[in-house]
Amino acid sequence: MRSGATPVLVDSDPLTWNMIPSQVEARITPSTRAIMVVHLYGLPVDMDPILDIAARHNLAIIEDTAEVIGQTYRGKNCGSFGDISTFSFYPNKHVTTGEGGMLCTDDANLAERCRSFRDMCFLKSQRFFHEDLGWNYRFSNVHAALGLAQLERLDETVATKRRMGRRYTELLGDVPGIELPIPQTAYAENIYWVYGITIKDEVPFDAKEAMARLAKLGVGTRPFFWPMHEQPVFHDMNLFPGESYPSAERLARRGFYIPSGVALSGGEMDRVAAALKEVFA
Ligand SMILES: Cc1ncc(COP(=O)(O)O)c(C=O)c1O
Repeated sequence: MRSGATPVLVDSDPLTWNMIPSQVEARITPSTRAIMVVHLYGLPVDMDPILDIAARHNLAIIEDTAEVIGQTYRGKNCGSFGDISTFSFYPNKHVTTGEGGMLCTDDANLAERCRSFRDMCFLKSQRFFHEDLGWNYRFSNVHAALGLAQLERLDETVATKRRMGRRYTELLGDVPGIELPIPQTAYAENIYWVYGITIKDEVPFDAKEAMARLAKLGVGTRPFFWPMHEQPVFHDMNLFPGESYPSAERLARRGFYIPSGVALSGGEMDRVAAALKEVFA
């Protein structure tokens, strides 16, 4: 939006919580320039149909890989599908430098343009002379050192996340009223960036209430994302009037995630599971 583009939405898959690729094509118009793919929570977006649509309609792919560093789609690294693929090094990510991020591209011109935007579009031939507006998104060598050290441990981090996911699934399998994240799809094994839970429709309370009850038992949680078409800032901009995306709306109201940091001990996971059993008993 900050680059002048207008976002157009599709709904979320009720099982993988990711975008539904089969809804993309109907939303393409002559103005469409790119498909923005955001891999969420631990499973990647189903990329084959997206790649096919992008090729047939000559669209760029922007791939948000923030939550799935170390994940693969049919054996190929997430973050290698986009014309530009973006990464976040925010503290809750698999690689963190406190704040910051990175983008990847195979296109040398795009790379050069991004380097320029990152450094306030200083003209190479003449400093303090600008032909474009940029930002200061410079990444310090200290931050890079932190990130690189963690990159060396990425396989270990991913293995830990998967182990934790399997353990939660074992512990929570018999808790009534909740649905657990699916362990795999045809194209990927869940990486459990965070361990999300959705509350079944027959339960008479929503995620907000469940999270408040868990907080009383000393268990911290985080809500799922809130849908774009229900954001006040976009209503003020007259975007998405009257639009409805039932699955995304339901996930926002019925979904939340439980403690998922790599430092969590087995005993702490037992405590989280016991609290969930109490809340949903
Ligand atoms: C999918 C996704 N995209 C983008 C971001 C934003 O990254 P940052 O906070 O580093 O700008 C996040 C979370 O932080 C995220 O989960």
